[in-house]
Amino acid sequence: MKGVFITFEGCDGSGKTTQISLLERYLRDMGCNVLVTREPGGDTVAENIRSVLLASESQVSPRTELLLFLAARAQVVDFVIRPALERGNIVLCDRFADSTVTYQGYAREQDLDWVRRLNAYATNGLTPDKTLLFDIDPVDGLSRQTDRNRMESETLDFHQRVRKGYLAESRLFPERFHVIDASANVQLVHQAVLEALKDVIKPENWKTGNCAIHP
Ligand code: TMP
Repeated sequence: MKGVFITFEGCDGSGKTTQISLLERYLRDMGCNVLVTREPGGDTVAENIRSVLLASESQVSPRTELLLFLAARAQVVDFVIRPALERGNIVLCDRFADSTVTYQGYAREQDLDWVRRLNAYATNGLTPDKTLLFDIDPVDGLSRQTDRNRMESETLDFHQRVRKGYLAESRLFPERFHVIDASANVQLVHQAVLEALKDVIKPENWKTGNCAIHP
């Protein structure tokens, strides 16, 4: 595929959404073709699944939760992410398969092998070129959240398992993951993001609106 696929992961309140906006603006200013999407969500069907999953009044069994996150993923991969990568876009995705491994696998304690296999099915084998992990103590992350959704309302213990899971995954896939200290100020974190992506995005080489250097 011609484009580059970058995912943003981290505990709730890690500031990844702010960083995606800053990166998006930076890349657009350079003339890059960027597509920003999020998970769960990204198209009408997946956004509907998101509403069900995150509504605080929903009572959702762990298996239903896992399957709904995966259903939303299959949808956005097929209709949004793959087509954009085929067009040569830089795709910035707010959460992806690693969120399912950490939240439903490590934290919700669903069988990790199953989660990985189901993820492979939902993504049809698509993996990110780079994953930026915004690492923060969940106590600090959650203190930034005011209106908490169903997942954010989980116990502190749950969120600590999420963080541990992310760090464990980053050690399993060191080529793909970049861990960024998300407790630093917004501009410092933005600089760390640009540094982490310097091998896959080279805006200065862009002449034709395609600044993705495929790894
Ligand atoms: P966010 O988009 O505001 O980060 O909220 C999404 C929430 O859903 C967040 O708490 C993480 C959670 N989540 C999972 O539990 N599993 C997943 O696969 C994904 C994509 C998100």
